[in-house]
Amino acid sequence: MKIGGVHYRTIWPSEDGGAAVCVIDQTKLPHEFNTVWLETLDEAARAISTMQVRGAPLIGVTAAYGLCLALTKNASDEGLDGACATLAATRPTAVNLRWALGQMRAALQPLPPAERAAAAYAKAAQMADEDAETCRLIGQHGQKTIADIAARKGTRVNILTHCNAGWLACVDWGTALSPIYHAHNAGLPVHVWVDETRPRNQGAALTAFELGAHGVPHTIIADNAGGHLMQHGQVDLCIVGCDRMTAMGDAANKIGTYLKALAAKDNGVPFYVALPESTIDWTISDGVREIPIEERSPGEVTHMTGLAENGEVLTVQVTAPGSHAANPAFDVTPARLVTGVMTERGIAPASREGLLQLFPERADHARA
Ligand code: MRU
Repeated sequence: MKIGGVHYRTIWPSEDGGAAVCVIDQTKLPHEFNTVWLETLDEAARAISTMQVRGAPLIGVTAAYGLCLALTKNASDEGLDGACATLAATRPTAVNLRWALGQMRAALQPLPPAERAAAAYAKAAQMADEDAETCRLIGQHGQKTIADIAARKGTRVNILTHCNAGWLACVDWGTALSPIYHAHNAGLPVHVWVDETRPRNQGAALTAFELGAHGVPHTIIADNAGGHLMQHGQVDLCIVGCDRMTAMGDAANKIGTYLKALAAKDNGVPFYVALPESTIDWTISDGVREIPIEERSPGEVTHMTGLAENGEVLTVQVTAPGSHAANPAFDVTPARLVTGVMTERGIAPASREGLLQLFPERADHARA
């Protein structure tokens, strides 16, 4: 996608064959567009845990490149094991992290150590390309759902999204936002309600930024406004991303997604989850019991960061001193609240049968 007319992906290796890897520092958006070079395993792990990079697919690709950086220093079996363990510990909920490390390990373990670093860079680049293509396909399939509503309604389609599941969360295109970009590019009249997404404001800071950069009409709303808008017929469709989906179709996504799905169900608004297959954890079936939910620092709730009138970016406390805060970062939307899943292979019901219609080769090990 483009920023100021320049095409960017969210991550790319240096041109000398990958001594370092560059990412967009998402903690600085939307006020500053900064890129940072990651040169070591620890820098890559820190970029993931501090959320300089975030979003399930991008976390996976960053971990793949983090492994490349580690193997240039130590490509022994112990080096590979240690680097995988360090990266796997950064964030617990998005299963793309485990998936990406599994893919990398399967490709690298059989090789002699001297060949591992070069092979790792080739594999990470391939994963980045595949992620971009997968997201493009999610958009192509999802666009049809938007086009159907536009044809039926005859006026603009209002789509609500939560958090950021756009190109900043992936390598390019995004998951939930890809159908919206495709529809907008095809000339369909779309407008996006962007949940601000407290406490870290991924909606207000990132989704609004990237929709604006692409010229997609959008309006930021407080997280609590969605139900009201749905009651008044102002939401035609919800599309959200996902950090981990069970084999039965339960979907973990940014905290607050579940409440939007409940409101959508109560108001007859279709609620779609957009995701690549790498976000499906075929080994589990009960999302509420089995998906690990990341607990982040209470400081993300008690404090907010923004642009002061003098142009300085400031962090301020919004709570009384001494008040305790809790910060579960994700929640689980049960499959029964999900109208359908939008994937690179098409759209299906959020159920074991629906997922296996799209990915029949997983039938042998998909949990029931
Ligand atoms: O904590 P974050 O910002 O990494 O959470 C991101 C989300 O919840 C996204 O909706 C999800 O990863 C899907 S990204 C395509």
